[in-house]
Amino acid sequence: MGVAIHIDNVTKAYGKNIVIQGLSAEIKPGEFFTLLGPSGCGKTTLLRMIIGFNTIEGGEIRVNDKVINSIPTNKRNMGMVFQNYAVFPHMSVRDNVAYGLKTRRMPKAERYRKANEILKLVKIDQYADRMPTQLSGGQQQRVALARAIVIEPEVLLMDEPLSNLDAKLRVEMRNVIKQIQHQIGITTVYVTHDQEEALAISDRIAVMHEGVIQQIGTPKHIYQRPANEFVSTFIGLSNLLDADCSGDVLDFGKGYKVPMNTLKEGVNGKVHVAVRPEEFIIHTDGTPGIPATVSSSVFLGMTQHYFLTLENGKEIEVVENSDLSDILPDGTKVTLEVMPMKVNVFDAQSRHTLIREGA
Ligand SMILES: Nc1ncnc2c1ncn2[C@@H]1O[C@H](COP(=O)(O)OP(=O)(O)OP(=O)(O)O)[C@@H](O)[C@H]1O
Ligand SMILES: [Mg+2]
Repeated sequence: MGVAIHIDNVTKAYGKNIVIQGLSAEIKPGEFFTLLGPSGCGKTTLLRMIIGFNTIEGGEIRVNDKVINSIPTNKRNMGMVFQNYAVFPHMSVRDNVAYGLKTRRMPKAERYRKANEILKLVKIDQYADRMPTQLSGGQQQRVALARAIVIEPEVLLMDEPLSNLDAKLRVEMRNVIKQIQHQIGITTVYVTHDQEEALAISDRIAVMHEGVIQQIGTPKHIYQRPANEFVSTFIGLSNLLDADCSGDVLDFGKGYKVPMNTLKEGVNGKVHVAVRPEEFIIHTDGTPGIPATVSSSVFLGMTQHYFLTLENGKEIEVVENSDLSDILPDGTKVTLEVMPMKVNVFDAQSRHTLIREGA
């Protein structure tokens, strides 16, 4: 079983510029934990604090309850994989992987045996004698992964390891990484700004914005019950609609009211309702709903996408599973019903969720 990492109220400043202030998170033993957020939000900064490339200006990081703030990187027993592979170009694949064991003074025969074992695990043993320049991007990234795990670190850190690969290879490699992580059970902190990758690969995700963790949760929870409007729009697509709320009823205007049973107690006033494209039902028979007009549509085989315009000019995207019925022509007037159990509701001012815990 892997180690636990406690990040406790940490602060990072570059000179006078504070980029992370009082951030806390708990990473469980053997967990695949992902930091997800837009460019510049502090993901790499936090990862570098964990491995020791960055100083920590406040708070502490503990590994299995041992404070590591002032332990040098080479004593932290962590492996890291970078975006740009960082393999040694003048060494064969096998020597690249064995290098970390050499610096730990492992005898030659033993380190080659160990390197071969790990090369098998990441499925590049057939390229062991090649030079890195003779490998594809995905293969080089496997070498980098092998190099990080051969030293049997307690913690594996990965900073956007797939962002230099093409889309198809990214999907393939994220499965490889997930599988190997699961197999060796190593506590892993993974950084990405790709939300789909984060959803696919993680046990839990921490969504970051401007140095602050907005929410920590399983991929499913973060997608279905975002803590605030930032998370709701950053993960997947959310259509935000204005409504008034009183007595557990959302009033979208024009007589369309939706009773809710997922709200916290006593919600009153102006709210934003976040409706994902798959959380609408389109009606053409005058069923009560939000009036809208089809402006365009795209058929994607499995799904039918509609782009609609509301009476206030707002653009909305709706996705339906495709069926045998005719595609609605542009200009069709419809009403949009929302699925009350699924939608999320945010306070119009604070932008925080008004959905009850556990709903
Ligand atoms: N060495 C440094 N000196 C000063 N400021 C820095 C330094 N490294 C990062 N920063 C600043 O800290 C903030 C966070 O940067 P960081 O690299 O952690 O972002 P990131 O979330 O990893 O972004 P990206 O997705 O683009 O890699 C940014 O505003 C950045 O400009
Ligand atoms: Mg970064």
